Amino acid sequence: MKKTLFSFFLMGALTLSAQTPVKVSIHADQAKNKISKEIYGQFSEHLGTCIYGGLWVGENSSIPNIKGYRTDVFNALKELQVPVMRWPGGCFADEYHWMDGVGPKEKRAKMVNNNWGGVVEDNSFGTHEFLNLCEMLGCEPYISGNVGSGSVEEMAKWVEYMTSDGESPMANLRRQNGREKPWNVKFFGVGNESWGCGGNMTADYYSDIYRRYSTYCRDFGSNHLYKIASGASDYDYNWTDVLMKKIGDKMKAVSLHYYTCKGWEGSKGSATKFTTDEYLWTVTKAAEIEDVIKKHIAIMDKYDPKNKIDLLVDEWGTWWDQEPGSHPGFLYQQNTMRDAMVAALSLNIFNKYSERIKMANIAQVVNVLQAMILTDGPKMVLTPTYYVFKMYKGHMDATELPLDVQCAELTYKDKKVPAVSVSASKNAKGGILITMANLDKDNAQTVDVDLSSLKVSKVSGTILTGKGIDSYNTFDKPDEVKPTEFKGAKLTKTGLTVTLPAKSIVALEL
Ligand code: AHR
Repeated sequence: MKKTLFSFFLMGALTLSAQTPVKVSIHADQAKNKISKEIYGQFSEHLGTCIYGGLWVGENSSIPNIKGYRTDVFNALKELQVPVMRWPGGCFADEYHWMDGVGPKEKRAKMVNNNWGGVVEDNSFGTHEFLNLCEMLGCEPYISGNVGSGSVEEMAKWVEYMTSDGESPMANLRRQNGREKPWNVKFFGVGNESWGCGGNMTADYYSDIYRRYSTYCRDFGSNHLYKIASGASDYDYNWTDVLMKKIGDKMKAVSLHYYTCKGWEGSKGSATKFTTDEYLWTVTKAAEIEDVIKKHIAIMDKYDPKNKIDLLVDEWGTWWDQEPGSHPGFLYQQNTMRDAMVAALSLNIFNKYSERIKMANIAQVVNVLQAMILTDGPKMVLTPTYYVFKMYKGHMDATELPLDVQCAELTYKDKKVPAVSVSASKNAKGGILITMANLDKDNAQTVDVDLSSLKVSKVSGTILTGKGIDSYNTFDKPDEVKPTEFKGAKLTKTGLTVTLPAKSIVALEL
């Protein structure tokens, strides 16, 4: 009997074997959208040891550092070519008073970090330390302004401090604090989660507040702010609807937060010990972001058919129980191949919607939630998620190649996800990058890729996998999950045949 797409679906993923090839057709002739490099963005919050101990140890630390930034972390981030970094929060942003974090360190006011563990924040990492880090990394800063507990004046003055080159009080204060030239600050968020920790506002009220605050966030000299409204969480389509209707083109973008998280009350599950069912829940929940994105975009299309307002997924990633023994307010979690799968799948989805999605910021860069890097005192380790970002680097600013995939699905209750996730792009030099994730943790897949619309002469690849879907790197065993050369792709007359091992992520360069 001839197998139809429908019969593949009925078979279910766990019965799929390498004998049932997955079909991928790449339609290079339909390519039109650039994958904004900012989709590969990061998020750094004053939360746990993300800033202190993660990015920053201070110049007098015994931990090797470059002007106070720890050298090992800095070099690892440089290697990722981080395009944009969001700061100082998160929930922290709406309690942050930037003036406390500038000027001589010994005079900086201390505060209590009410959101994250009630610890003392000494403000030794402030505006200069963040913006200088971005300059050193060559990434765009994305500043989250305080709407929840800050004033219009405070926000306006922060923009002036950072970006004014004139004879203005704030530019002079910046000069007095040691920085002559203004920084380039493009991305500016007017509040964070204003429906929750950022002020518990209604969508209507926030829209008016946004209009008011953003009026006084001025463009100084050649600096042009790209203003971002604090957007919806997950399935809150009404929030997007109201903001699109009431704020409209007074914002350049609206954000969206989506966590692969079991819920906000009670246990979120262990980061490293999970059952097959919990794994299937994870990948189907992560995949559901596609439906959520489509629905938010449909609302945006209604008010903005010319696509002038962007959607930024400025917080996303997995959220598990904190590592046993760690501070409950610090959100420090381990990171396994399961997390790498969520990263690979999510990035493939963001690439697909690159017409509207112009930025995404995984939460968070070091030591918090789905981190790239974990540190403990002088020790540092790169996570499986870090390696996904490294393998996907070539998609940044490349042209997305539309494609379709025919394969079986993994299921969890009524939720489904195609077992193989794929994205492809072509860079300015004509090089093609295809990233694939075989979410099936038990079965290999043979993938036939139709590339007939492209000329391809050679292929090389990298693979990320582990002994188990729960494999992870530790300070003592940092190489349990690490990319290696992939030799499972062969050129055919019409494209490629790829043998994807179970639970693997592959990047092919053509
Ligand atoms: O990333 C951790 C927190 O999650 C952020 O501070 C907040 O914006 C979100 O709820």
